[in-house]
Amino acid sequence: MKVPLLDLGPTLEEQKQEIIDKVVEVVESTRYIQGPEVEAFEEEASDYCGVDGAIGVSSGTDALLVALMALEIGHGDLVLTTPYSFFATMGVILRLGATPVFADIDPVTYNMDPQKMEEVLAGEKTGKIKAIIPVHLYGQCADMSSIMEIAGCHGLPVIEDAAQAIGAETIYSHRNEKGWRKAGSMGFAGCFSFFPSKNLGAIGDGGMVVSGDEEFSHKVRLLRNHGGEPKYYHSMVGGNFRLDPIQAAVLRIKLKRLEQWHRQRRQNASLYNKLFEENTTLASIPVSTPAAVNEELSRKGEEERNYHIYNQYIIRVEKRDELRNWLQQKNIATEIYYPLGLHQQKCLTDIFTPPPMSNTEKAAQETLALPVYPGLTPEMQEYVVKSIAQFYT
Ligand SMILES: Cc1ncc(COP(=O)(O)O)c(C=O)c1O
Repeated sequence: MKVPLLDLGPTLEEQKQEIIDKVVEVVESTRYIQGPEVEAFEEEASDYCGVDGAIGVSSGTDALLVALMALEIGHGDLVLTTPYSFFATMGVILRLGATPVFADIDPVTYNMDPQKMEEVLAGEKTGKIKAIIPVHLYGQCADMSSIMEIAGCHGLPVIEDAAQAIGAETIYSHRNEKGWRKAGSMGFAGCFSFFPSKNLGAIGDGGMVVSGDEEFSHKVRLLRNHGGEPKYYHSMVGGNFRLDPIQAAVLRIKLKRLEQWHRQRRQNASLYNKLFEENTTLASIPVSTPAAVNEELSRKGEEERNYHIYNQYIIRVEKRDELRNWLQQKNIATEIYYPLGLHQQKCLTDIFTPPPMSNTEKAAQETLALPVYPGLTPEMQEYVVKSIAQFYT
């Protein structure tokens, strides 16, 4: 049996003709830049995320970049973020001439640990930290209640990197607000990616910035189109960060199925959890599943705090690289997100040596992403878990 890490075929099949018809419609409309599809997508996506305003942009990377540009982050500024994320989270900081500072992750959720973040902020007396970027890694929200509380004490804007987490929810409690909130809707702004492997994926690149702050949103809207206001009069320098109308049109179609795909991913995740738990070989060896968070919470009698959308299903194992090779021989594809912490990347360590981040470094050695996409069959999942058990016996 062959198990790919991701197969977009099954979900495409559900909507293929509708997508093709729509692409033809956009082509025939001759509206190739901005226009009604982009505007309609922005409205529908902001409703979905529970935010006031959304701005479609060219990618998740550009969403982060333009958000930081709108905050006027630049040379000499510091931006506090997690060391365990895709490179773009740090890349945009460096591209603007600013410097990342890191707060290590919580070893269970892999998201930035608010306590570590507080320690970094307490130790930084120069006032150079200008923004905070938590990442909702793998599709599970970071602890936004604590992050917003701490950021608020320091008067710092929080830009949520929700690239992997559109539709993820968490119980949010901040000031007089309490209740379920969607990723991207809690901070000053939220940034999303529509890279094809995301739960809501385009047929190419795409991204989005959301914010409830009108002035900021207006600025992002201008910056995405070179920053001219009025047209051809530039008091600021933007770029071409526009969302393509064909991508917007496809995203509108796919948005209608997003909740169903989240549910399928969650079902796949819970079947993995069950199979790992039931497998007697694995019961005696340390394979930690992501459900550990929720099990711990329910053991304490608390409610489940997070609606995880499982953009990735991550296990933590011993002998990770050997296991990965073994699975490859069995035709099972896996991935390592990520083999290095951001603080260990050469482009950064060539400039300075950030402090060690032990939880991140350990996770980078031990985590492995298993296939979890909608369309993965129970037989495939059984084969994956059986093959992992075989490796350890
Ligand atoms: C956490 C995170 N941030 C940012 C990005 C960048 O998004 P894009 O690939 O759309 O530029 C990604 C995409 O993989 C991501 O996973």
